[in-house]
Amino acid sequence: METIQVAVPRKDRYEIIIENDLLDQIGKSISDLFGQPRSIIVVTDERVKGLWVDKVSESLDQQSLKCELIVVPEGETSKSLKTAMTVWEEMIRAGIERRSIVLALGGGVITDMAGFVAATYMRGIPLVNVPTTLIAQLDSSIGGKVAVDHKVAKNLIGAFYHPKAVFIDPAVLSTLPVREIKNGLAEAIRTAIIDSKSFFDFISENSEDLLNHNISKLSRVVYDSGKIKMKLLAPDPYEQDLRRALNFGHTIAHALEAELEYKQDLKHGEAVSIGMATAARIACNKGICGEETRDEILNLLKKVGLPVSTPPDISPENIWERMRIIRMIRGGNIHFVFPKVIGEVIT
Ligand SMILES: NC(=O)c1ccc[n+]([C@@H]2O[C@H](COP(=O)([O-])OP(=O)(O)OC[C@H]3O[C@@H](n4cnc5c(N)ncnc54)[C@H](O)[C@@H]3O)[C@@H](O)[C@H]2O)c1
Ligand SMILES: [Zn+2]
Repeated sequence: METIQVAVPRKDRYEIIIENDLLDQIGKSISDLFGQPRSIIVVTDERVKGLWVDKVSESLDQQSLKCELIVVPEGETSKSLKTAMTVWEEMIRAGIERRSIVLALGGGVITDMAGFVAATYMRGIPLVNVPTTLIAQLDSSIGGKVAVDHKVAKNLIGAFYHPKAVFIDPAVLSTLPVREIKNGLAEAIRTAIIDSKSFFDFISENSEDLLNHNISKLSRVVYDSGKIKMKLLAPDPYEQDLRRALNFGHTIAHALEAELEYKQDLKHGEAVSIGMATAARIACNKGICGEETRDEILNLLKKVGLPVSTPPDISPENIWERMRIIRMIRGGNIHFVFPKVIGEVIT
């Protein structure tokens, strides 16, 4: 037998820039980052097109950056292979080549799906994320996970593919419906429960302002969440260890979302909220956390208007069956993350 040793070092470095009105400078930021002019494929959804695309295209125009706009329907159903296929088709039709840049402008659905498209088109072309929902700014657009859903499980078809930059403009959150703010706060609360009591208290003390679109406080939530997420991912950026603290609330959430076939009745953050509340109750019953910790978690989720129980029309048996399927897909492993105290979980 002969063996050839192969080692492929992979270096991914990028900056996450958070700045009010950054959208006006996107063109300049891209020119500074990439040097020579390239074509930009802006992938967005119908709603974001009506709200924020003009600002982005004006800014690209000012730098004479050629821009191709691809618009998909809004909602989780666009996080699919079918939509990815329509985007690939449009890119081929427009003659997009390897030096072009995919600019994902939208919520988590767009950054996940367009990221997947960028990762796979011609074996990977540069990706720039410009997230426009709270959940995308503090979670989906950072960390390098891109995917589309499959009907048996969420994010089943995907890759690790880091963006070249993430440009976050908290001012775009001004047009976000309050339900979407709550959706993002669910992931922020998740991060706080895992790692930071002071961040948990900040969200609790400022919940009203956050729900009222106070942009400077929302910026702080985006920054703190992002910083903690990156710190937690640093030792295991490709998530070899499935027992990750960041999965807190997600085991049940993924089962719930698959059961509801990713319809908008339950948003990702709402599913995570139910998952965290359930994990907190189980942890309390098992003596992993005290009643006080359980109640602190349930009270904050309720305070920001997030659900803490499974919708009545969903049977627990179906959820267990979904979790069994997810376990099968993950090679027999399913891991629950439980809170111990606020700022510390066990995996
Ligand atoms: N990759 C990751 O690490 C990661 C992490 C967390 C969540 N996610 C994924 O993110 C997805 C959820 O993201 P989402 O909740 O942002 O969904 P989304 O992209 O569907 O956005 C929600 C809604 O907000 C609208 N919208 C977007 N920006 C807006 C703005 N500025 N003003 C007004 N409306 C705006 C969209 O059109 C859409 O209707 C899920 O698929 C989830 O799995 C991925
Ligand atoms: Zn999540």
